[in-house]
Amino acid sequence: MEELLGAARAARDHAYAPYSGFRVGAAVLAEDGSVFAGANVENAAYPLSVCAERSAVQRAVSEGARALSAVVVVSSGEGPTWPCGGCRQVLHEFAPQATVITEGPGGELVRRGLPDLLPDAFGRSDLE
Ligand code: THU
Repeated sequence: MEELLGAARAARDHAYAPYSGFRVGAAVLAEDGSVFAGANVENAAYPLSVCAERSAVQRAVSEGARALSAVVVVSSGEGPTWPCGGCRQVLHEFAPQATVITEGPGGELVRRGLPDLLPDAFGRSDLE
């Protein structure tokens, strides 16, 4: 947990959020124990901005990780910062049973399972 939190916080330091000012870092834990982190990367063409969670997932998959079991999200806001709807869907692809952990307003860690955050998710099995 310390490693995941540290990676998410370090990624948040690299957030590129000049438009919203809302800086986010995320870290995901892969099956073999590897940790991959990402930050939100905004764009002047706003819809092209990418959330921290998706940055982290892209990095993990690009490095060969496919099964993710935990996701930590930290932001510059008061928290908690749960993944947005789009990120919940992207996480469902590679981390359907993952525990999602974020910081509450007092800095305490709060956690929810992805199935709670995205019930009745659409996924690969719907296309079989
Ligand atoms: N953002 C994330 O990176 N993750 C979330 O879970 C919520 C929102 C980013 C997107 C945008 O750069 C900024 O926060 C404000 O929405």
